[in-house]
Amino acid sequence: MSRYQKSRELHDRACRVLAGGVSSEFRKFNAPHPLFYTRGAGSRIFDVDGNEYLDFTLSQGPLILGHSHPHVLKSVAAASAQGQLFAGQHLLELDLAERLQRLIPCAELLRFSLSGSEADHAALRLARAITGRPKFLRFEGHYHGWFDNVSVGVAGPSIEALGPREHPTPLRWSDGLPADIEQECIVLPWNDLALIERTIAARKDEIAAIITEPVMCNNGCIPPEPGFLQGLRALCDQHRIVLIFDEVITGFRLGLGGAQQHFGVTPDVAVFGKAMASGYPISVLAGRKEFMQPIADGKVIHAGTMNSGQPSIAAALATLDVLAREPIHARLHELGQTLMAGLRDAAQRAGHPLLVQGMGPMFHAGFTPLKRVRDFRETLSYDKKLYAAFVSGMQDRGIRLIGRGLWYLSAAHTPEEIEQCVGTAFNVLKGI
Ligand SMILES: Cc1ncc(COP(=O)(O)O)c(C=O)c1O
Repeated sequence: MSRYQKSRELHDRACRVLAGGVSSEFRKFNAPHPLFYTRGAGSRIFDVDGNEYLDFTLSQGPLILGHSHPHVLKSVAAASAQGQLFAGQHLLELDLAERLQRLIPCAELLRFSLSGSEADHAALRLARAITGRPKFLRFEGHYHGWFDNVSVGVAGPSIEALGPREHPTPLRWSDGLPADIEQECIVLPWNDLALIERTIAARKDEIAAIITEPVMCNNGCIPPEPGFLQGLRALCDQHRIVLIFDEVITGFRLGLGGAQQHFGVTPDVAVFGKAMASGYPISVLAGRKEFMQPIADGKVIHAGTMNSGQPSIAAALATLDVLAREPIHARLHELGQTLMAGLRDAAQRAGHPLLVQGMGPMFHAGFTPLKRVRDFRETLSYDKKLYAAFVSGMQDRGIRLIGRGLWYLSAAHTPEEIEQCVGTAFNVLKGI
């Protein structure tokens, strides 16, 4: 009998009622099939078959304090008992906004939403309104949610399909996008300032915004080249282009002020989500006053029935409490670096070319002969089949990983667990 028998049966049942058996596209890709989970506690998650996993997915990033942190649960329960949604203002919302205003360099004015996708959508709308220009510049392999205008240039199967570096083919990620959606964006490889400069020189009157993950977390967890973010800042200043940092992953994970504080480059507008509220739905659009003014004036519409509900706001405040009072970020960087080094060493001993790169609190692992990757095109060198075998082997031995190679650390992970993970990884690597 399979170790995942009950999940198998539930997955069959799910396929008869949920499209594809899941509620998000990214949950489909677990071998031998998506699993059903019953409970998460600290660094651990448990499935319906009674298997326990050391969890490095952390729900795709949000669980920076680990699963079910007691302070978060208590705060959410207390706030929920007072009401859930008021279609009006409440004090906790104001407290959170003021706290974020103090923490995040660009956050002079803010608006709350539910998801990163929504907030990214609002940021791009805002940029078009401010500049009166139609397009945004985005980078191959960056992910800004699943809405129409950012579903171009996200992925690509091969270098040939991506087209020439200077003029990439704007590839669609989904069927059903509007007819001319490619016209809304210019796609370029990341980390190539000279190419961006040339493109902007030729097309500046069309470009409302540059949107970028400040670390290319979604493919390869690639840090910016020295001077790259500063270069984008200078170009945007020079050409009156809105610089948008998508900090949905980097926010609250690299540090309380996000990547903008970490790298010392302040964007005009930034988007946060994930780690902000330990798994409760919330995102925030934050920007310099003059850039957020069109929303304040009602010229750019941003709305949402479910925005700033008490439970999510309370979860965010509680998460920030813990992140502010304990030296969690230093610990995440340190544990992450230890794990990265351990995985490199394990792979070397097992004879596999595993490239491990990133920031510590989140990083990426993938099999490639390259010594580092700098953009999406280089990530196409990863051997995805081999990595899938690695992920399956780890899952069978009680370690849960994200299939596409991104790893997340939480405050709940211990040095002993990191050591255990490296030992398991070595055993799995030897066998694949
Ligand atoms: C950088 C980035 N931006 C935006 C999003 C979309 O956020 P959400 O899934 O909350 O809509 C994600 C999600 O993974 C992300 O990683």
